[in-house]
Amino acid sequence: MCGIVGIVGRTSVAPLIVDALKRLEYRGYDSAGVATVEGGQLGRRRAEGKLVNLEQRLNAEPLDGNIGIGHTRWATHGVPNETNAHPHFSNGVAVVHNGIIENFAELRNELKADGYEFVSQTDTEVVAHLVARELKRGASPVDAAHGALKRLEGAFALAIMFQGDDNLIVGARNGPPLAVGHGDGEMYLGSDAIALAPFTNSITYLEDGDWAVVRRNEVGIFDMDGNAVERRRQQSLSTSFMVDKGNRRHFMEKEIHEQPEVISHTLANYVDFTDGVSKPLDLPFDFAKIDRLAISACGTAYLSGLIGKYWFERIARLPVDIDVASEFRYREMPISKNSAAFFISQSGETADTLASLRYCRKAGVPIGAIVNVRESTIARESDVILPTLAGPEIGVASTKAFTCQLSVLASLAVRAGVARGTISREQEKTLVRELSEAPRFANHVLKLEEQIEKIARELSRYKHVLYLGRDTNYPLAMEGALKLKEISYIHAEGYAAGELKHGPIALIDENMPVIVIAPHDRIFEKTVSNMQEVAARGGKIILITDQKGADQAGIKTMETIILPDMPEIITPIVYALPIQMLAYYTAVFMGTDVDQPRNLAKSVTVE
Ligand code: AGP
Repeated sequence: MCGIVGIVGRTSVAPLIVDALKRLEYRGYDSAGVATVEGGQLGRRRAEGKLVNLEQRLNAEPLDGNIGIGHTRWATHGVPNETNAHPHFSNGVAVVHNGIIENFAELRNELKADGYEFVSQTDTEVVAHLVARELKRGASPVDAAHGALKRLEGAFALAIMFQGDDNLIVGARNGPPLAVGHGDGEMYLGSDAIALAPFTNSITYLEDGDWAVVRRNEVGIFDMDGNAVERRRQQSLSTSFMVDKGNRRHFMEKEIHEQPEVISHTLANYVDFTDGVSKPLDLPFDFAKIDRLAISACGTAYLSGLIGKYWFERIARLPVDIDVASEFRYREMPISKNSAAFFISQSGETADTLASLRYCRKAGVPIGAIVNVRESTIARESDVILPTLAGPEIGVASTKAFTCQLSVLASLAVRAGVARGTISREQEKTLVRELSEAPRFANHVLKLEEQIEKIARELSRYKHVLYLGRDTNYPLAMEGALKLKEISYIHAEGYAAGELKHGPIALIDENMPVIVIAPHDRIFEKTVSNMQEVAARGGKIILITDQKGADQAGIKTMETIILPDMPEIITPIVYALPIQMLAYYTAVFMGTDVDQPRNLAKSVTVE
């Protein structure tokens, strides 16, 4: 998603803004720009592509000024080029925007009729012209910004700056996050705390409908009616050291290798490894008294929820209704009054997931947020935060957040089983002990890196890949396919192995490797039959299993990745690592932008 930075500073701000924008690169973008006010005049530099292009532009044509706004753009309206890059200008007004102005066409026609000329294809440009028109009608800069904001419909985080005023930026939020950073004689605006970490960790997050008048030594926050509102000022947890690659080539590689540690941190928050019990949780509902649990999320987070469904239903006998967030609320799923809902999100800002949360809020359902960013909107709008302790996840492809989400869900399923009396004290102790082994096994699997890199080199020659799995390995097969396609751009699909003969088997030939995720479990033989169906048609199999599975498969495979025998409950967590590594190394061989794959954003804050 787009990134916004604004600084009302005491020194030249353009280089500072570019550095801050670099901390937002993980959100995904395709162009960037910065504007400042120098000697009362607005100046601007923009560039297509990565921030290095903007830096080159600034080196060639420096931009001075102690106040500025910057932006990394993830195109929603208009192709990614310099003309469509932000900031957008109109008669002494500069604007950067994250989100979608849903009524931009109507506003564009109205403004054109008033003689305003549009130079870009973006929705954002209407904001600059709206503010300029308010100024022309005699409004002060602050009132002009407020008047324009009241005309906007849709999702927006905005920063607005004015020719002739080097001590004012107006910020606004309705959907995508925007934070005010409090400095010493300086003030900042940013899409998140990570961007502002080098300047300050004293942060005030705007709420939906807020707008802020930001000056060097003061900030006022107002609702859309113009009433002053109080917003909590907090110490952000994001600090500069958290956001670097260490000795790894990519953030994704670093984050894959952090998993043993962060899985351990996350589990320790929910289970007591010493006493072998799941920790009581202060939940806004009683697992023993609900008859259904709703889960909604997007992408990888949804797939973790799908695995969680197996666990809640098997361990706690608790029926789970789960759907991708973009379908969840439009389906108008009937919500039982004795139910609860969990929303899973790494960023805590995914618009579809937030909208589904609000759908459940309206239905009066108690809400839990399984999030990686405690200060996020989804966290703030939930009744209880169930944190994943993965640390900032910068790579667009989610890895450590996924296995930490699974760790939370497995722990909650045990907790629910205890509360509902579906597992004995002994079973609880066994499950907790088994969960506590996940970090050790994850660490072991990372040592298979060399073999997996070799397989990935082979895999990078193909155009299509099929992933198969049964039971909790079925959502894992979908996750493997999602990982591969989103960073290597190779088409991949994840399928329930049992579904192969109902269609996908028509695809099988020597040009389509089939990756089968199958630890030796009680349904392993069923998966062996599926592999035989593939082999009989010349399909190439990459089998991810354990020693027993390798011994008993009885199939000639292209490759077999053998993981240690481990307790069933942790297989989805640990088997996630080889599929992540497979995708990672394939993408490296494909030469794609592993951390910021094309067209993708780390946090999709528009519907
Ligand atoms: C995961 O690899 C993807 N980048 C994407 O599917 C992601 O999981 C999805 O957009 C949800 O994001 P969230 O967890 O921040 O809500």
